[in-house]
Amino acid sequence: MKQAIIVGASSGIGWELAVQLAAKGYQLGLMARRGDCLARLAGLLPGDHFVQMTDVTNAEKSQAELKQLIELMGEVELIVVNSGVGRKEKQLDWVVECEMIDVNVRGFSAMAVVAMNHFLARGGGHLVGISSAAAHFSGGLTLTYNATKAYVSSYLRGMRSRAIRSKLPITVTTVEPGFVATPMVEGEPIWLATVEKGVSQMVTAIEGKKNHVFITKRWRLVAWLLYIIPDALIRRLV
Ligand SMILES: NC(=O)c1ccc[n+]([C@@H]2O[C@H](COP(=O)([O-])OP(=O)(O)OC[C@H]3O[C@@H](n4cnc5c(N)ncnc54)[C@H](OP(=O)(O)O)[C@@H]3O)[C@@H](O)[C@H]2O)c1
Repeated sequence: MKQAIIVGASSGIGWELAVQLAAKGYQLGLMARRGDCLARLAGLLPGDHFVQMTDVTNAEKSQAELKQLIELMGEVELIVVNSGVGRKEKQLDWVVECEMIDVNVRGFSAMAVVAMNHFLARGGGHLVGISSAAAHFSGGLTLTYNATKAYVSSYLRGMRSRAIRSKLPITVTTVEPGFVATPMVEGEPIWLATVEKGVSQMVTAIEGKKNHVFITKRWRLVAWLLYIIPDALIRRLV
């Protein structure tokens, strides 16, 4: 049986990813802080699954919990690090910035290190990291969030180099969504994809062992435009 772990499975993209992977026959390890949501999700999915509460801001404890879950499950071949927070940044508020850095940078790296070491020891596997199209630009109102996602995308590029150098069959997939309708997104921003559609494109990329995917695909054009548009114009837009 194929086994996968999703870190950040209690809501939004992670929840829907669990639904779509379970429908494809995966046995899942579901991780996040809200154990009640994870237990509800596990009960809704076909088959038997594992639930492990974790708070990635407590990095070393969370690493131990991920390692334990990997051992308990036995043959985990896919680990998706999806946990992330995106807060409004109208004020320069260190508490708000710090949470995003702790979850999206420190927590992300802590999980990715355990995942990659597991695949190196196992002789193969697949690490998927959920970054954002926001990795490609800096906005005054979302400065920390965008910077944390630039870190995630850059970090995954580095992990991919290590995977290739290992000469083992290890895939590293960077997922960069634009807007996907989840509790993280307020209002109706442009090109808002339903969570079902966004995650279905992610699953296709995972199954195709892609290095990189924008969700939805049109965000590739946005990212490219953002690199060629002068900063002064971008500042007026975001
Ligand atoms: N929705 C979008 O438009 C969009 C666009 C670009 C990128 N993304 C990225 O996609 C990922 C999923 O976001 P979403 O939109 O699905 O948001 P969401 O519904 O708020 O889900 C966030 C997930 O992260 C988990 N999480 C947050 N803090 C955590 C912590 N300290 N420890 C462990 N887990 C934690 C949450 O679980 P608990 O609260 O239960 O811990 C939840 O399962 C994030 O990395 C986000 O940055 C989303």
